[in-house]
Amino acid sequence: MTDIASKVREHYSATNLTDRIKSALATIALEDQTLTVAQLAPLDQFHTRGILATAELAAVARLESSTRVLDVGCGIGGPARYLASTFGCKVTGVDLSPGFIDAANYLTDRCGLSDRVAFQVGDALHLPFEDEAFDAVFLQHVAMNIEDRPGLYAEVRRILKPGGRFATYDLVLRDGDVVYPAPWARDASTSFLLSEGDTRTMLEQPGFRVILWRDDTQTALDWFKVAMAGAPPSGLNLGVVMGPDFAARTGNLARNIRENRLGVLSSVLIRD
Ligand SMILES: C[S@@+](CC[C@H](N)C(=O)[O-])C[C@H]1O[C@@H](n2cnc3c(N)ncnc32)[C@H](O)[C@@H]1O
Repeated sequence: MTDIASKVREHYSATNLTDRIKSALATIALEDQTLTVAQLAPLDQFHTRGILATAELAAVARLESSTRVLDVGCGIGGPARYLASTFGCKVTGVDLSPGFIDAANYLTDRCGLSDRVAFQVGDALHLPFEDEAFDAVFLQHVAMNIEDRPGLYAEVRRILKPGGRFATYDLVLRDGDVVYPAPWARDASTSFLLSEGDTRTMLEQPGFRVILWRDDTQTALDWFKVAMAGAPPSGLNLGVVMGPDFAARTGNLARNIRENRLGVLSSVLIRD
């Protein structure tokens, strides 16, 4: 594993995560009750606009029950479970963090989705799959932790079938310095944001054709306004995963977007 991957893994390391999630879940359901994807959404959709963003991207990616999907940098598996339960497709999630994969497996079992959703530890730059193994790839709020973007996009292309869809949801650099600590990095040493133009060039270069390129910055700002004006989040939130200062780091993300330091971008591409 590279130094950067080790540092990123360290950033997302979470001691006793599955046990902490079990305790948080006890506030909403008994241990033998089946949970729904919607119930878990405040906890397990680790990106701006949460489950709404996953649902919008999935609608454009045209998933069906026969689609084989890979979620790269799957976190604790919320997006993967959403895709499998909504479209009936089989989803594999891969993530650098063993603690996240353990929690993802636990939550998937609690949702009764283990027959359709599987997870494994792995690096996005060295995906542990054969060439052309998947019909669709999701990558939500992960690219900003990856310095070798050409390597990342070439690797995604390698494991996609020709004509396969690549759905990405990214933060992009706008104007001025990014304020840290942020949810994905405590400082610039594990943050590798690109401008929108550079992101597009790097995506198209290995052989992807854009079918959706949408600036979601204003939508994200509107979402943050509502989220931050509301009551404090219940016991089930991303603070369980990322620790007590997560609210402050999310506040910095909202500030970066509000002050036009960062933009929010959705895209769907077809592999040539
Ligand atoms: C902000 S979270 C997003 C998680 C998930 N995509 C979601 O939207 O709920 C970023 C995730 O990317 C993972 N990640 C970062 N760099 C990675 C890499 N090189 N390979 C695999 N996963 C990586 C982290 O471990 C973390 O789980």
